[in-house]
Amino acid sequence: MEVIRTVAETLGLAERARAEGRTVGLVPTMGAFHAGHVSLMRRARAERDLVIVSLFVNPLQFGDPGDLAAYPRDEEADLAVAEREGADVVFAPSVDEMFPVGEPQVAVDPGPLGERLEGAARPGHFRGVATVVATLFHAAGRCAAYFGEKDAQQLAVIRRMVRDLAFPVEIVACPTLREPDGLALSSRNAGLAPEQRDAAPCLFLALSEAAATARAGERDAATLVAIMAREIGATSPARLDYAAVVDDETFEEVRTIERPARALVAAAFGEVRLIDNLQLPS
Ligand code: PAJ
Repeated sequence: MEVIRTVAETLGLAERARAEGRTVGLVPTMGAFHAGHVSLMRRARAERDLVIVSLFVNPLQFGDPGDLAAYPRDEEADLAVAEREGADVVFAPSVDEMFPVGEPQVAVDPGPLGERLEGAARPGHFRGVATVVATLFHAAGRCAAYFGEKDAQQLAVIRRMVRDLAFPVEIVACPTLREPDGLALSSRNAGLAPEQRDAAPCLFLALSEAAATARAGERDAATLVAIMAREIGATSPARLDYAAVVDDETFEEVRTIERPARALVAAAFGEVRLIDNLQLPS
C-alpha cells in the first residue's frame, strides 16, 4: 500500500490505472477508522481494481475550532487498517496541500439541501463537505465513490453535487453499521459517558418504531415524527434536536408518505451530538 500526500501524485496514479483499463474506487474519510469505514473499504475492494482511501480531517466542515482540534487522529493505526483491508493507496494530504492558497474562496454551495436539518444545526457544514469532496473527486478523477448511509443528508448533498456539476463519479451508498443494541457506529460514540452510552440506542429505537408504524400502514409524517420525538424525549440523558421524515430522493420534509421516505433523528448526550436515520417502508 502506498501513502500519497499530494493531489498531483494521486491523480497521476489514478490516470495510469484507468489507462491500463483498471477501475478506480474512492473512499473519502476523516480517519479514526471503525467498522463502518471498514465496510466501505471492503465494498470498494470487492468492486474496483484500484482502491484509494482518502484520509483528511477537513477544517472547512467544522464550525467550532474546538471540535476540529478535538477530532480523533491516529494516522498510524488508520494506515494499518487500510492496509489490512487491501487499500492500494491512502491519500493523506496536509491542509496546505489541499488548500494551497489558504481557505478556498471559491466553494461549492450545497443549496437549500445544505441548509435544512443537519445544515441548520451546523451552519456551513455541508458547504465545507461539498467543497472538500469536490477537491477529492478532482484528485481521483473518473471513479466510483463510497459513502455511508449513516450520513444520509451528506450522501444526498453529494449525489446532487455530482448531478448538478457533472462529476464523472458514480456514488455508491453503503448501509449503516451498528452495535448489537442498534447504536450506529461513529467516532463520536467514544465520547459518551456510560449512562449516555446506555441511553444512546434510543435513536435507533425511535427510528425502528417509526418504521414499524409505517409498515403497519401509517402514512402521516407528523404521526411518525411524534412517535420518534416521544421515544427520544422519554430517554433522560438525550436532548432531542430534531426528528423528521424526508423524501429519500430530494430530502425535503414530507407530510404524507407517498414515495420512498427516510426518517432522521439528531440528539445530544451532554457534549456529544449523534445522528441516525432509517429508510421507511413505502
Ligand atoms: P467520516 O465521518 O470519516 O466518514 C467517512 C465515511 O464513513 C462516510 O461516508 C460515512 O457516512 C461513513 N460512515 C460513518 N459511520 C458509518 C457507519 N456506522 N456505517 C457505515 N458507514 C459509516 O463523512 C466524512 O468522514 C466526511 O464528511 C467526508 C465525506 C470524508 C468529507 O470530509
